[in-house]
Amino acid sequence: MSKYLRLFALLVLVTAGVFAQEHPAIIPMPLNTKWGNGSFVITANTVIVADTADRPSVDFFNSYLQRFYGFHLRVQSASSARAIHFSTISASDGEPGEYSLHVSDDNITITAGSHEGNFYGMQTLIQLLPVAPFTASTNGLVIHPDAGGMTIPAVTIYDFPRFKYRGLHLDVGRHFFPVDFVKRYIDYMALHKLNYFHWHLTEDQGWRVEIKKYPRLTEIGAWRSGTIIGHHPGTGDDSTRHGGYYTQDQIREVVQYAADRYITIIPEIEMPGHAIAALASYPSLGCTGGPYSVPHNFGVHKEVFCAGNDSVFSFLQDVLDEVMPLFPSKYIHIGGDECPKDSWKACPKCQARMKTLGLRNEEELQSYFIARIEKYINSKGKQIIGWDEILEGGVAPNATIMSWRGEKGGVEAAKQHHNVIMTPGEYVYFDHSQTRNDDSLTIGGYLPLDKVYKYEPIPAGLNDEEAKYILGAQANLWSEYMSNPAKVEYMLFPRLSALSEVLWSPKGARDWKGFQHRMATQYKRYALWHANSYQIWFQPADAAVQQKLGQWQDYKFGLMMHWGTYSQWG
Ligand code: ACM
Ligand code: ZN
Repeated sequence: MSKYLRLFALLVLVTAGVFAQEHPAIIPMPLNTKWGNGSFVITANTVIVADTADRPSVDFFNSYLQRFYGFHLRVQSASSARAIHFSTISASDGEPGEYSLHVSDDNITITAGSHEGNFYGMQTLIQLLPVAPFTASTNGLVIHPDAGGMTIPAVTIYDFPRFKYRGLHLDVGRHFFPVDFVKRYIDYMALHKLNYFHWHLTEDQGWRVEIKKYPRLTEIGAWRSGTIIGHHPGTGDDSTRHGGYYTQDQIREVVQYAADRYITIIPEIEMPGHAIAALASYPSLGCTGGPYSVPHNFGVHKEVFCAGNDSVFSFLQDVLDEVMPLFPSKYIHIGGDECPKDSWKACPKCQARMKTLGLRNEEELQSYFIARIEKYINSKGKQIIGWDEILEGGVAPNATIMSWRGEKGGVEAAKQHHNVIMTPGEYVYFDHSQTRNDDSLTIGGYLPLDKVYKYEPIPAGLNDEEAKYILGAQANLWSEYMSNPAKVEYMLFPRLSALSEVLWSPKGARDWKGFQHRMATQYKRYALWHANSYQIWFQPADAAVQQKLGQWQDYKFGLMMHWGTYSQWG
């Protein structure tokens, strides 16, 4: 090659690199993206053309524009030139969640086979908006359409998700989070195209859902008189009352808020363990009859629901009778994890039950407990999900398994032809620290961004047929050491962005280097949202990424702890 050709080849490479970086950063990476020439300019006069059935997409888009760019667009059903078209053509043969997004000089068109797909197309469109330069003092109103409009680059995207279950969990038992924050959390999910919110509503340290038949659950069980200081078992006690709960009206409101974002909420009512808040409210539910008090410390506690007492099952059925109608979800999570058998071993009622039923050990008593509850839930037309401990002693017939103690439970369940949701602690426990030098208090462990990004939800060792039982995966945020929303966001970001790509994008599209480039833009979005995040998230080898990130390090302290000032978006 001549010197000039070499120079030309180098120039092409450099220019291609520059252009590649200038395309908007879309996370999760769509299935198929073809950048075009030209652009569509959104001004204050641009209209949205949509049917009322796509209002959830339109409303989210407009509220996003209003909140972060200071304007919104007129919506009409009649077609129009120079418009943003939201259109859904119901297609029974399409892929669930599929959409196409086309941007040309004249129009933006989202076409989907379902309203849900339409919503995902709109989320991708949001990521084509220029991300405003952000300073702590000028959030919002930064790119006003009067100042030339917003340029959306020409592109054609065809996309649908890899997994049908794309989940995120929040423990509101160890610490209670207000409705406004739960809604914001749901927005973060929507912005990442996740579709299942696992709401961990009951715990040893707090019962968080109003049950009208049992008012003491929230009068007593929703409150504790203090919390340990530092790591379990604690160096002291803050002696500060902590608690709270959601009324049934609030739950309905949050469920609707999530449904408007095509997110299903799965409630978790924990049993037979992690139930001391319930025992403190109604001591006859425990093996010894109490007294019990809502614990200030964390870890696994020995006091659990009595499995030999029929009134415990009546109580749980009554609770489920109030919970199930609140949640349209076909799944109810019944917990099942970390249930020590000490109190059952010492309890005459539990032992008598085992004898009558010919159960060989307390694991089989736990299986009996779960199967009995499953039968009740199935009789109401719903399905149970349980943590992988419910495999021990025989799994309930129709249960879906959440594999959290590694991948083993998931493999075993899939081989037994049970549906599985993967949540292995090593890859998706977002209560683990993102750095080895974290000076904030976390539960321990180390889960850096690249480890989440490289996680593969289909475990090795499953054949193609068994792999079909893996519905998807979910990250869990246990809140022992997350006492306020800013801390939750700090643990969530940027790992949520990596998780979204694991769950949505084709396996072959996973590209850690490219993801790091796109993360530089994603950090600007976090800033735009006023979301807290873990900032020094990795040491990128790539100088260009380092430089981009450097520009955004400034606000890392400014954002902390201001969560209380936001209002919800919807
Ligand atoms: C769990 O982390 N105990 C499910
Ligand atoms: Zn008992």
